[in-house]
Amino acid sequence: MIEFCGIRLAHRVINGSGTFDAIAARRAFGDALLERFPFAAFVSKTVTLAPREGNPPPRLWELGAGMINSIGLPNKGLEGYLAEDLPKLAALPVPLIVNVMGSAREEVATLVTAFGERDEVAAIELNVSCPNVKTGLMMGADPAELAGLLDVVRPCTAKPLIVKLTPNSTSPADVAAAAEAHGADAVSLVNTLRGMAMHPRRPEPWLGGGTGGVSGPAIRAIALSQVREVRARTVLPIVGMGGVQSARHARDLREAGADLIAVGTESFRDPLAGARIAAGLEALEDGLPANAVTLARAAAR
Ligand SMILES: Cc1cc2nc3c(=O)[nH]c(=O)nc-3n(C[C@H](O)[C@H](O)[C@H](O)COP(=O)(O)O)c2cc1C
Repeated sequence: MIEFCGIRLAHRVINGSGTFDAIAARRAFGDALLERFPFAAFVSKTVTLAPREGNPPPRLWELGAGMINSIGLPNKGLEGYLAEDLPKLAALPVPLIVNVMGSAREEVATLVTAFGERDEVAAIELNVSCPNVKTGLMMGADPAELAGLLDVVRPCTAKPLIVKLTPNSTSPADVAAAAEAHGADAVSLVNTLRGMAMHPRRPEPWLGGGTGGVSGPAIRAIALSQVREVRARTVLPIVGMGGVQSARHARDLREAGADLIAVGTESFRDPLAGARIAAGLEALEDGLPANAVTLARAAAR
């Protein structure tokens, strides 16, 4: 057992927001999913105040080493999430972290207050990769902008607040320092990097949203360097993510300064990647050859 922001977790691997649909997985795998849930905590996809349709298709472009998505955060909105998704996610055998986003500080405050009142929710992650409609600045790209957001939302809940840093900023480390100074309990990084693919036959972008977020192995080196920079500037717990496909990748992020590891794009290839990486990481940190122990554990099941 380990502890993260006062939450007890069975191991150090969780999912990246929006990359594992636990409700669909439960439908597909039934109670087997609950018996062998791959993550130590479940992070919901981003919830906004009003429902969102998401971006027009196409929404995905496969890269040689990852993908670009322009899903556009489709979701049922706060009311729909509370009524339909929260009861299902509360049945998972692990703590629930709800990820929220708003385009105004008051909107984020409403979301944080609503989830802060729910016993089913262990912690709240703030997705700050969104422009503030009033200032025009991305909420997580500028230290002063993030400080202003936290000053409004921090008093709204006593639950742990995790700020999900965007890599699309001049200095994620400066933003992390502002997060710490203004009451965040942890930071998570990296979110996707902005990217684009051209249509194979027409002189226009392929993705319906124009640009999208690059994820997967292509961003692993960037995640490593940003986690290391952020670790040098804050004592807050860090959730490290970006291109993790194996226990060794997870250990690299741990050594760069991450306390927890989140697995995102790799779960699309292997839905049990979280469990595989968690077992391998524990073995590596115990000084044992990862593959031997992972295989022995799998055989013992
Ligand atoms: C299809 C897809 C959907 C995502 N949706 C969200 C989301 O709703 N909220 C969020 O904060 N991050 C979202 N992310 C970002 C991931 O949580 C993660 O930060 C990023 O993909 C880097 O990790 P990875 O390289 O392991 O995928 C999404 C990523 C992908 C690929």
